[in-house]
Formats: sequence, structure tokens, C-alpha cells
Amino acid sequence: MTMIGPFHPWRDTLHDLGVMGLIPVPLVREAVIEKQPRPIMAQSAQEAVQEKTNLPVVPAPADPVAFPPPERVAAAATLEDLERGIQGCLACPLGAGRIRFVFGEGSGASGLLFIGEGPGRDEDLKGRPFVGKAGELLDKMLAAIGLERGQVYIANIVKCRPPDNRTPTGPEAQRCLPYLKRQIELLAPRVIVTLGATPLRELLGVQTGITRVRGQWQRLEMLGGIPVMPTFHPAYVLRQYTQEVRRAVWSDLVAAKKWLDDAGTR
Ligand code: URA
Repeated sequence: MTMIGPFHPWRDTLHDLGVMGLIPVPLVREAVIEKQPRPIMAQSAQEAVQEKTNLPVVPAPADPVAFPPPERVAAAATLEDLERGIQGCLACPLGAGRIRFVFGEGSGASGLLFIGEGPGRDEDLKGRPFVGKAGELLDKMLAAIGLERGQVYIANIVKCRPPDNRTPTGPEAQRCLPYLKRQIELLAPRVIVTLGATPLRELLGVQTGITRVRGQWQRLEMLGGIPVMPTFHPAYVLRQYTQEVRRAVWSDLVAAKKWLDDAGTR
């Protein structure tokens, strides 16, 4: 068998790990190619790999549009800046499947921020959050507490549509979360209403079922602590259109609104 230069050290490493005999040689060779230093490696780790393998260090592809660096996200001084800086994001698999990036929209003036799960078909087509059937119901829910859509801000955990409207995976959600967090910093909402289980789990780490936790104040540890009111997702309300479910959502929204109204006197 002819050995190519950089193959030796990896063969030795695999041998040391006791897996050499278990992997067919062509796969090992592929693995060697695959094992070239990746951009996510720290410089010191890259150097360690290079020293061990003699492989050349491949410079990290600098594409701040597809992989917006954290410094760019942190440096965004306005929501518009932030949107411009991240709208080309391809950092998770959802990016490749989107038609439009759904950044979020509305006004921060009321101090109320709604957070849903992720864009569906209508939102993907229009590039705006909650514009389908669930959005129509959200508008009605807002009207029931005396607010219009334009008075609140609406965003989602992920900004690109998951295929077949599935729930975003943990890694997808966590990859997108720094964008939402910067949005929250810029909006500085006085109250957040989370819609359904996904924002509660991904933003606050609350794993308890939404049926048990809805209506109970939570706290987001940002900006000194932001009160969070979890409620049902409008899509769930549409599926379970019972008086009990509608009353639950209404009372959650009333509680959120009361907190906002009372904020002036606190
Ligand atoms: N469902 C969501 O969670 N977000 C949207 O924007 C639309 C539907």
C-alpha cells in the first residue's frame, strides 16, 4: 500500500485509540482529509493539530455574511443594524431552506415583546412574523387587551422557517438565540410574553410543559431581570378552540398588560 505524507500521523493516532483495525483504510483516508483543521478551532488547537499531523493550516473562510460573527451582533447599535448584519445568515441548516428571513417587527414603545417559535409558510413568503392564521388570532388576542399589533414587538426563536413547520431543533434554536438576545437588549422590553413551549425552553431553559407553567410569571436573566408571562401558542389555541383555553390565554395577557400598566406607578 502506498502511503501519502500526512496519512501516517493519523494512522498512528487511530492505532493508539485502538480503532485502526476497525475502520476500512479508504474511510480512514477520508477521515484524514476531513480532519484538516476547522475554522472553529482556536489558534492554539490548530497549531497542536498541525504539529501532530504536519497538515497545513487551512485559513478560516471569512464570510461574515453567512456566519455573522458575535462581535458584529454585539456591535449592532439599532435593530436595523442588527437586521442588516444577520439577514444573510446561513449558520444553521434552516438558512438554506428559507425564502425570506423573518427578523421580527413592531414597536418597542409599549414595552411588550411577544416571542413565538419560528416562521411558518406565510411568514417565510412575506418575511414578517405571525401573518398567517396564527397571526390573525394573535391580532385578536391583542385587541382583547386593548392593543394593536403595531404597538408591540413580535419576534421568534428562529428567524428562518423549519421544514414542514416542525419545531426547531435545540442546536438550530441555540444558533439563532444570540440574534434574539441582541434584539431584546436593543428593545429593552418591560414584559415578554412567550407563545408555546419552544421559547420557554430555548430562551429560559424551562422544560416544564406549557399547560403546567402557563400563567406563572418567569424571569429572563437579562438587563437586570425581565418578567416573562408564558402562554399558549395561537396555533395551539386554533387547534384546541375551547372556552377554557381561550380564557387561559386571555387571563395571561391581562396579567402581562396589568404589569405594563402598573409599571408607571412602580
Ligand atoms: N408561528 C410562530 O411561532 N411564529 C410565526 O411567526 C408564525 C407562526
